[in-house]
Amino acid sequence: MSTEQSNADRSPQDIAKEAAGRHAASYVTDGMRVGLGTGSTVHWTIIELGERALDIVCTSTSVQTHELATSLGLKVISPDEIGALDIAIDGADEVDPAFNLTKGGGAAHTREKIVASMSPRFIIVVDESKLVPALGPFGTPLEVLDFAPGVVTTAVEALGASAVTTRDRRSDNGNLIMDAQFGTIADPVALGIALANTPGIVEHGIFPGSMVERVVIAGLDGVRELVNDQR
Ligand code: A5P
Repeated sequence: MSTEQSNADRSPQDIAKEAAGRHAASYVTDGMRVGLGTGSTVHWTIIELGERALDIVCTSTSVQTHELATSLGLKVISPDEIGALDIAIDGADEVDPAFNLTKGGGAAHTREKIVASMSPRFIIVVDESKLVPALGPFGTPLEVLDFAPGVVTTAVEALGASAVTTRDRRSDNGNLIMDAQFGTIADPVALGIALANTPGIVEHGIFPGSMVERVVIAGLDGVRELVNDQR
């Protein structure tokens, strides 16, 4: 089947995800230690890295990514084994103008934040639909210890959430995944700090813009980048 035919069966968003994901792989060169994110956009980065057969070592942010990367012949070791990274590439559910991110739509944000923190370069791959004027509409994913989820819910509501729901599926770490609705988040960095200080929350899905080097964005007009000059 030709690319043209296969694209006819795909949504413009799926085609954009592939374009952004594959483009970001160009930042990876031989000898690098690479953090691999999770999701349907960075999926294509991983595919591209596998096709290029570079001499790289990777660490992954989920079982799903580990299985994909190893199936493509990429060398994947644990975060502790790899120690530090040269680059990490991942998707996002929301990106605001200050490069703050919502992540965790795929329940992988705890491992994603650890892996991103290991790298001086954190590159985000998205389609245009992920760009928002302010974080919030997607909801804020929370990984929560299954000890006192009701207590955590009450604490999150006290921080301004109008609703907190629990997903059916747990994280790869075996914890609960909740989604909190804060409406439009005026100060995502402050909310992130408050959530991090809430006992029982293992990790929240707000990633401050200070972590992000650039965002690779694909839309109908092709691929462009936003570079974070404020880091
Ligand atoms: C995984 O938990 C998420 O943080 C993903 O990185 C995010 O949901 C983006 O996924 P897609 O690229 O599939 O939209």
